[in-house]
Amino acid sequence: MATVAFTLNGRPVDTEYETGEHLLGVLRERLGITTVKDGCAPQGVCGCCTILLDGRPALACLLDPSTVAGRDVVTLEGLPDRQRQLLAECFVQSGAVQCGFCTPGIAVRAAHLLERGLTGNRSRVTSALAGHLCRCTGYRRIVDAIQLAGAGGPDANGESGCGVGGSSPRYRGREQVLGEKPFVADLNVDGMLHGALVLAEHPRARVLSIDSSTAEAAVGVARVLTAGDIPGDRHHGLIVHDWPLLVAEGETTRCIGDVLAVVVADSQHRARAAATLVEVAYEVLEPVTDPEAALGPNAPAIHDDGNLLEVCTFRRGDVAVALASSAHTVEAEFRTQRIEHAFLEPEAALALPVAGGGIKVYSQGQGVHDDQRQIAAILGVEADRVEVELVSNGGAFGGKEDLSVQGHAALAAWRLSQPVRVVLTREQSLRIHPKRHPLTLRYRAGCDSDGRLTAVEARIVGDTGAYASVGTKVLERAAGHSCGPYRVPNVDVEARTVYTNNPPCGAMRGFGANQAAFAIEGVLDMLAAEVGLDGYDVRNRNVLDPGDRFATGQLMDSSCGIRRTLEAVREQYRSARIAGIACGIKNTGIGNGLEDTGRVLIEVNEHGRLEILTGFTEMGQGLHTILRQVVHEETGLDPELMDVRTVSDPRVECGMTTASRATALCTAAGRKAAVRLAEALHDQQLIALVGSTFHGEHICDFTTPPGAEVADPVTHMAFGYATQVVVLRDDGTIDKVVAAHDVGRAINPQLCAGQIEGAVHMGLGYALSEDFPCTGGVPDSLRLRDLGILKAADTPPVEVILVEVPDGFGGYGSKGVGEIGLVPTAAAVAGALFAHDGIRRTTLPMTDAAAARASVPRSRRAPTAPRQH
Ligand code: FES
Ligand code: FES
Repeated sequence: MATVAFTLNGRPVDTEYETGEHLLGVLRERLGITTVKDGCAPQGVCGCCTILLDGRPALACLLDPSTVAGRDVVTLEGLPDRQRQLLAECFVQSGAVQCGFCTPGIAVRAAHLLERGLTGNRSRVTSALAGHLCRCTGYRRIVDAIQLAGAGGPDANGESGCGVGGSSPRYRGREQVLGEKPFVADLNVDGMLHGALVLAEHPRARVLSIDSSTAEAAVGVARVLTAGDIPGDRHHGLIVHDWPLLVAEGETTRCIGDVLAVVVADSQHRARAAATLVEVAYEVLEPVTDPEAALGPNAPAIHDDGNLLEVCTFRRGDVAVALASSAHTVEAEFRTQRIEHAFLEPEAALALPVAGGGIKVYSQGQGVHDDQRQIAAILGVEADRVEVELVSNGGAFGGKEDLSVQGHAALAAWRLSQPVRVVLTREQSLRIHPKRHPLTLRYRAGCDSDGRLTAVEARIVGDTGAYASVGTKVLERAAGHSCGPYRVPNVDVEARTVYTNNPPCGAMRGFGANQAAFAIEGVLDMLAAEVGLDGYDVRNRNVLDPGDRFATGQLMDSSCGIRRTLEAVREQYRSARIAGIACGIKNTGIGNGLEDTGRVLIEVNEHGRLEILTGFTEMGQGLHTILRQVVHEETGLDPELMDVRTVSDPRVECGMTTASRATALCTAAGRKAAVRLAEALHDQQLIALVGSTFHGEHICDFTTPPGAEVADPVTHMAFGYATQVVVLRDDGTIDKVVAAHDVGRAINPQLCAGQIEGAVHMGLGYALSEDFPCTGGVPDSLRLRDLGILKAADTPPVEVILVEVPDGFGGYGSKGVGEIGLVPTAAAVAGALFAHDGIRRTTLPMTDAAAARASVPRSRRAPTAPRQH
């Protein structure tokens, strides 16, 4: 144990630390400074741990504690209060905060720029953000916020409106900017122990033995848990229970994210250090890594039922006849890559034993009720003995749907009868949670002499990796969206979901629709070239109108707004010298025969405040903010009287926050609850209603399963629509993106536009630079730097056009917007690149393009040969 003395936020400190601890760990775990966040320690990439060291920005995760001896360390807590409040105000007013995990680090950077008077020049501010990642916002509003602070702050008379349709400031946004709203890893309770996971070293290997004796003898270690310690079901899964919480001796691993043991110790550092001492003996086996080879007769079965998880089909009309009589036909194969969510907050959970023999878990997952159900099964108890409360997470994008560490934390707390917190390192996070599916999409399509689509045949294969997760649903969604927002009279689609020993794939923003959009939009551009039409006209002739049928056979109703979004970008597309255009459609709600439910409960508590409860997750999209807007809209009550929480109370069971459905369902349910409250308030004061509760429920149970033999299938309760235009400069780099989106009703236009901007940013990375390649089932890199996420300086301006064609299923008419922002983006980029250099690209990412040069990681910068058609 060593010691170091330095000045922290103006006060002298003298603290111990152990060999291998970095300054970030010392600040967070020993000194209780949690405004410095750990997004990637010790990689030094995300910027979340930015501090001021002797007045200059530095990354705490890269610093050995000894290097700050005698020096001056300032964190967000130590900035002058006037500056802190100014930054908080400017970030919130600018809409620069979403999940908020990156924000405190950026605020420290901003403070430094303010001190130096360097906020006036926009490109200088943008360059200064080179050391920061934000996965949510697309950066523009962050730059706006910093410049606004430099200009003295927002206009005091600014009015944003706090009802439906107003850009109400983000709920608890100021706390987020100042790092005062805790994430799970910031929570500390008395007697808390720390868990660290031991992961498999090989994607496919028989585990011969697990020897934890050395780890158990290490300083501070309380216990090492293995598979035999699980009292209930050892396997979990959202749909298929195929994922072991802990792999047992004698079993075969399926990916390098498999967990073999949990080491519990009195500090995070000691738990992680001891985890390296667990000795595992393996018999290494050849992994199965190619999904098509995995379907071969001699491929080893990764799961007992074989490697083919599911086949999904949609068929209408006669494709063979239609193609034979089409004026033009094209045939093409598209390949999309595996990518990583890269939410900036790694997975974490805190579990505490509670009186009466139950357990409470603080989770950052996307479904508190699914967490509750699965944890209860692992512990072998009834669900009512497990309470799960959401701690709003630092980004998710679908990657926090599956159980990650909640089960391990709960198991450890259960076995040791003490609170246990488990926090993943960035490397572990990359190994464990499911990614976006890499798909191969083989298309044949035809059109008539006017360019009207006659038929689409698609054969899709998806690598779902080691575990099912929601892979079958992703492939169902890819199949359902295989014809995009277009009228296609003859459809023959088949999608196969295949197990391999690659990292698991599951939900990620867009959920199969992105991959399908890249393919169908490329096909449409190829047919347009055959006919002699431009990108606008071919889409204008084919987009769905009310009364047309979606690929699955669903009749589109009057809420179908795709044509409105297309028309909204017409002039921008036509006036650009080099541009690409693409349309997108994305389901709102899970549908496909499953019930979509929203529930909200409003309680008037003893302080005369409203407690608004829901089961849907706040993960930066602003759900909690818009719930307050809804209640204000219907009751007129001040939003400052309202608190919002996400809890596993059965009265607010909503299921997973997925499929772009939370806003639509939650506002519909929230409206019903709020109307009941308004009726009760009719002639009395709120304080008279203390103890009363008001419930709202909205259920959509009318959808049909995929392939159902019915005349009018209804696959989804609603859809969102978009058309995007990507404009290039003469050198082939991106000048701007125009994104017109039919959102039904923008409950909060600022948050809504912010969602789209962030999604387009992610979509540009998907198009040009992002990848998560694996060799032999092992990721080529576990460094955040190598994922290809666009930095601020690489992100072009995004001009959002909100179109409102209300949906009639209930609530205020809003459709989902969380995912569709990046559905058409890669295809629009591909179209623009073709307009620039005449190369038709059908493989993502398009790293060879001039537009990608700056943002592709150095390790992957060698030109790749594009496929040409
Ligand atoms: S935690 Fe230090 S840069 Fe990411
Ligand atoms: S707001 Fe920047 S990472 Fe979420």
